[in-house]
Amino acid sequence: MIDNVVPDGGHRKRPSGFRNTLIIGSVGVLSAGLVLVGMSTTANAASTLGASAQQSGRYFGTAISTAHLGDSQYTTIANAEFNMVTPENEMKIDATEPNQGQFNFTNGDRVFNWARQNGKRVRGHTLAWHSQQPGWMQSLSGSALRNAMINHINGVMAHYRGNIYAWDVVNEAFADGSSGGRRSSNLQSTGNDWIEVAFRTARAADPNAKLCYNDYNTDNWTAAKTQGVFRMVQDFKQRGVPIDCVGFQSHFNGNSPYPSNYRTTLSSFANLGVDVAITELDIQGGSATTYANVVNDCLAVARCVGITTWGVRDSDSWLGAGASPLLFDSGGNKKPAYTAVLNALNASPTVSPTPTTSPSPSTSPSPSTTFRLRNEGAGRCVDSPNSATANGTLFQIFDCHTNPNQRFTYSAGKRLEILGKCLDSPTGAGSGTRVQLWDCHTGTNQQWNFNTNGTVTNGANNLCLAVTATTNTSPVTIATCNGSANQRWTMA
Ligand code: G3I
Repeated sequence: MIDNVVPDGGHRKRPSGFRNTLIIGSVGVLSAGLVLVGMSTTANAASTLGASAQQSGRYFGTAISTAHLGDSQYTTIANAEFNMVTPENEMKIDATEPNQGQFNFTNGDRVFNWARQNGKRVRGHTLAWHSQQPGWMQSLSGSALRNAMINHINGVMAHYRGNIYAWDVVNEAFADGSSGGRRSSNLQSTGNDWIEVAFRTARAADPNAKLCYNDYNTDNWTAAKTQGVFRMVQDFKQRGVPIDCVGFQSHFNGNSPYPSNYRTTLSSFANLGVDVAITELDIQGGSATTYANVVNDCLAVARCVGITTWGVRDSDSWLGAGASPLLFDSGGNKKPAYTAVLNALNASPTVSPTPTTSPSPSTSPSPSTTFRLRNEGAGRCVDSPNSATANGTLFQIFDCHTNPNQRFTYSAGKRLEILGKCLDSPTGAGSGTRVQLWDCHTGTNQQWNFNTNGTVTNGANNLCLAVTATTNTSPVTIATCNGSANQRWTMA
């Protein structure tokens, strides 16, 4: 990005309860997880960034570039360590609409498909931006440009509709320096309302995607630019302009160092009622201490949903390998900063779903302890549609919330009870069958085992609880176990 060569200087709402990773092998072990009610406990140390972030309900992502998808060292590290992907350049305006009205998703799809084939979610980047506009857009102005922006948002979001976790709808619209105002650009010249028009267009184009404003040099709470963005988000929330999240790029360097009030910035925005995310993290010099500080600041803010580093290895960075800004060196080795990040993530407390309940010495969880079953790949929860209670109601996934139609208890008979009935794998069901709601009984088709890899298997057929897609209302099924993210579940 042209203006950010040396810049001065991203979750989903965390439930009001908390989540536990399903590291459970039996009722007794499940109990060990659940009886820690009311207590914080240090998470079991996970050995990758994604898994350790997942322990507190967050993600750890990276920018992925098609330029490196043929490099097995790159893909091996990226696949093992990260569970969120942002295409570094491939979903930008010049890549996706090189000629007006002619969309090209070749490279966007390459990154998207790599991510999804490896069980990762995708952040879309970016729909409306003054930079990396194709030539035809650069030459437009006024209503022609405004309409082109709207058409672009609609075209790109339609292609990925239902499959993107969050979009950076508008990128870098504020000016550096002391004004706290908008950056001048051809988009800004179409009228000050261009940003809210972009967000309203985006909401209609894909109601399931979280809609983010993303910028750099917005890390220091006292900076005029930070305050300018803050006022815009505050105004949007007050007026009902749809915005779900704010991305802090967080490119830290000598001119724009990590600020000591970074946590204040994250929490202040979160208090407006939006998720916050660290979306393009890199730190020139790769200070382990600074990386740990950034992670700890995110962990301290409930609505800080995740962290993305802007590349995998130093050699992949837009800053060049000499800047040493990432967590892996150019040979693919873990750097001290990697260890600092992993340790910080693993030190994060996990807290049980019902903080007010006393610890129970029982070997089975209290029947009153409720939790949601949140799918790791989809980030959504098992849900009885419209709170239906009829036998045969087919379960779906939906955005996690706190209503009873997503609340389960785990009975001593290994039953998953909800709405007075039970999660049931239809008698004789095979892979691909949808699970249903049914009167509780003691049959093995209502028994569910929680496995150490996060899968949940049915007692009758040993098939894995699964989702077939990530969007709201996608079916919940049983399927041949493969351990991928669409078959991994957490208690949330
Ligand atoms: O792929 C072409 C290559 O074929 C050509 O020969 C070469 C000649 O210039 O250009 C190559 O494309 C470059 C592309 O990166 C892929 O390497 C572009 O010139 C170059 O401009 C582009 O830079 C990207 C930059 O955004 C553009 O604004 C960086 O990779 C990317 O990391 C950077 O990412 C931005 C975020 O989107 C927004 N926030 C800041 C961040 C860092 O600047």
